[in-house]
Amino acid sequence: MKKLGFGIIGCGVISDWHAKSVQAIDGAELIGAADLNEAARKSFAERYGIRAFDSIEDLLACPDISVVSICVPSGLHAPLAIQAANAGKNIIVEKPMALTIEEADEVIAACEKNGVKMAVISQIRFTEAIRVLKNAIDNGTFGRIVMGDVFMRYYRSPEYYASSAWRGTYKMDGGGALMNQGIHGIDCLQYVMGDIKSVMATAKTLVHNIEVEDTCSAVVEYANGAIGVIQGTTSVFPGYPRLLQISGSKGSATLEEDSILRWDTIDGKVPEGIILGRTKASGASDPKAIGMEGHQLQIEDMLHAVLEDRKPLVDMYEGRKPVKIITAIYESERTGKKIYLDEFDRSHSKK
Ligand SMILES: NC(=O)c1ccc[n+]([C@@H]2O[C@H](COP(=O)([O-])OP(=O)(O)OC[C@H]3O[C@@H](n4cnc5c(N)ncnc54)[C@H](O)[C@@H]3O)[C@@H](O)[C@H]2O)c1
Repeated sequence: MKKLGFGIIGCGVISDWHAKSVQAIDGAELIGAADLNEAARKSFAERYGIRAFDSIEDLLACPDISVVSICVPSGLHAPLAIQAANAGKNIIVEKPMALTIEEADEVIAACEKNGVKMAVISQIRFTEAIRVLKNAIDNGTFGRIVMGDVFMRYYRSPEYYASSAWRGTYKMDGGGALMNQGIHGIDCLQYVMGDIKSVMATAKTLVHNIEVEDTCSAVVEYANGAIGVIQGTTSVFPGYPRLLQISGSKGSATLEEDSILRWDTIDGKVPEGIILGRTKASGASDPKAIGMEGHQLQIEDMLHAVLEDRKPLVDMYEGRKPVKIITAIYESERTGKKIYLDEFDRSHSKK
């Protein structure tokens, strides 16, 4: 049977996760890659035994490619996604899908107009721990949910920010500790807790020589009445794995990155097959220390979405949600006010 063809735009750090995942998936074939930087695209193509396309246009014109992974700096995600949609390609875009609600809506409109699918990378959502946690919350295992928190006390070295000119800039990173690193935890938090009603935040640049925030704390109110905290920083040594903590009237759970650290319920039951323990793969101190499994599962989900003509689990409408939450947090820091997300969304939406 003919395999589904994949292409990659951007041959930097994260593109290896896409290439290795595609090459590990039955039914998928990595055809080629493009990068503005000739040396980068040539060595990447050689490493994976694929074609190096001289331009994005050439890659998008290749009829063997059905799905394109966009792995360029974040500020280029929206324009390249629109270009790929207009070329009729299905798209996997790295997080964040766009830097503003307005941009996200333009991407969505382009995908809808061209009838193409989009998956927005949020690989932690594909872990067993998140699946089990969401089921438990939805089934009422923890009773009434009272608090939902995420703590992301990460460390990034000065060399990390110096490694590519786009890191830590408003135009290309869109934000700092939340828009770049924290978005994974924020997406998982809103996925398990449901809609956020309001945010009230303080954000600062305390340690790094960057334009955007390296430290932020936000108080959150959920539509279901629970409250919580979103904390993110890239400024603290040594950097601890992300903690996602959910507490309710009948029980609580703590996740450490992709693992369930604690699970305590009034009935004393732990879900079948769950082994409590610490994470083995965390990007808390080193962005290259993340595992491969999440990307592979998400890309596999996209392959099936295309072949079976169904929605990917994290589609463009889902990918828009953390962009809305994070930009609302930035708006709260900017104005010193509590931001109500429905109103914020209405005033920025292009629909
Ligand atoms: N899901 C995750 O866990 C995760 C981890 C790391 C990075 N990311 C995301 O992946 C994206 C890329 O991050 P990175 O660390 O790989 O960056 P990087 O700087 O290492 O690589 C970016 C690559 O894009 C190329 N590029 C820049 N402009 C281009 C253009 N117009 N056309 C084609 N190629 C172009 C650069 O030459 C470079 O090779 C970011 O949006 C980041 O948020 C996600």
